[in-house]
Amino acid sequence: MSGLSHKSPPPCAIVIFGANGDLTKRLIVPALYNMARTGLLPPRLALIGVDHNDKTSAQWQADLRSFLEGTLAKGGEGDTGKLDETLWNPIAADMTFLKGDFEKPETYQDLKNLLAQIDKDRDLKGNVLFYLATADRFFSTIAGKLGEAGLVSQDTADNKNAGFRRLIVEKPFGHDLQSARDLNSCLLKYLKEDQIYRIDHFLGKETVQNIMALRFANGLFEPIWNRDRIDHIQITVSESIGIETRGSFYEKTGALRDMVPNHLFQLLAMIAMEPPVSFEAEDVRAKKAEIFKAVHPLTLQDVVRGQYDTGVVGGEAVKAYRQEDNVAKDSTAETYVAMRLMIDNWRWAGVPFYLRTGKRLNIRSSEIAIRFKQAPLALFRDTPVEELDADWLILRIQPDEGIRLRFNAKRPGPAMALESVSMRFNYKDYFNQAPAVGYETLIYDCLTGDATLFQRADQVEEAWGLVEPVLQGWANTTPRHFPNYVAGSQGPSAANDLLARDGRSWREIRILGGK
Ligand code: BG6
Repeated sequence: MSGLSHKSPPPCAIVIFGANGDLTKRLIVPALYNMARTGLLPPRLALIGVDHNDKTSAQWQADLRSFLEGTLAKGGEGDTGKLDETLWNPIAADMTFLKGDFEKPETYQDLKNLLAQIDKDRDLKGNVLFYLATADRFFSTIAGKLGEAGLVSQDTADNKNAGFRRLIVEKPFGHDLQSARDLNSCLLKYLKEDQIYRIDHFLGKETVQNIMALRFANGLFEPIWNRDRIDHIQITVSESIGIETRGSFYEKTGALRDMVPNHLFQLLAMIAMEPPVSFEAEDVRAKKAEIFKAVHPLTLQDVVRGQYDTGVVGGEAVKAYRQEDNVAKDSTAETYVAMRLMIDNWRWAGVPFYLRTGKRLNIRSSEIAIRFKQAPLALFRDTPVEELDADWLILRIQPDEGIRLRFNAKRPGPAMALESVSMRFNYKDYFNQAPAVGYETLIYDCLTGDATLFQRADQVEEAWGLVEPVLQGWANTTPRHFPNYVAGSQGPSAANDLLARDGRSWREIRILGGK
């Protein structure tokens, strides 16, 4: 992420815990395949899959291949629809499946022996990336057992030139402040901070990375990126899907834990952080951490929760949350959350940030909308007030990725009448995007030791600390009006009240085609 050109990662082994899981099939292996296409894989790579099932290496490889073929056949953007043997075969040539119980020390001894053998055969220079693609309840156990087996020590007294040992940890990183602290201290018992790569997959999205380019590679925006010029900022991550097959997970998690301290706060940090002195990991992460420290403590009055009822999404009738599989009939889990945040620093004092996210909203649409202050409009006193819109800069994260600038223009004709118009930049009009699942940059960065796009321990804890009072407050009060929004709508009306109190309103959640 930090450099302009890319360097080839060193030879290494990637050990995937949870080798038979969904994440491995849907994201990790397709990402490796895409990386082969763009030349981002190490010259020598051994894949080791660890899981508890009985499976041979050949079966594991065949399963992954057939899943990948299925995905490619669906034909994503830029995909040919077929597996390219020249890309797949070098990956497949070096795949080993290790049957093992994550809780048993023997698994780690077997892994140690296997790694030593593979390293010798393939000259991998001792480099190993461990990928925790398991359920989160195994994170501490696996990290601890790797540590006890001596598998994560990079430099030892008798081996100063051991290769790198890195660990990727997936989301969720804890479920509240205490559990995040516990997980951090467990990982930090055996690993140093710079060996740990905590993934937030939103940071793998090109449009999210582009926020830094937009802000810091252009002289235009930074001078107006502050409380003098900006009225408020809205961050929306709207999903039309429901909770799919994740009822049990969602019952324990809810929208706040699932989306806010991680994805939404990462967007917030990208938009609000001070310019770093470089794109080196420590410089960027330090600036992000400052934002979390400056957020004013949240109270329950700043936050609204919602849960979807039956409704129609994309023309199809859908169930209420309480009718989904593995969900209690009187569940109080929230599927929507909206909040108002203030950042206490010189740049942002007095500028509200409104965040919202929800399932089963009308469409899938994520954007950051920056509303500039209204110009003094005395000159246009004859224009009806509803036609005088302020200027907006809209960063579209997904879909229809791009940037819009809305401003006022004179409508042709003899009168000085105004209309809000829009200038558009669409990613796909300018760049040919290589097929990607969104994990390619993240895995590549980890292989090359660049932690810029990963979360540091303090960031994770600050973020959980911010939502902690809300989690506790909600745990002590039963939401009386659940379900409180119709599936296919824009969320509960209470979310509108949150902005109406400030004399503002949410942007409509819609696809930004046309004008
Ligand atoms: C995940 C959440 O982290 O992000 C899901 O657990 C959510 O509930 C998903 O649907 C959204 O990510 P994306 O990339 O599909 O927008």
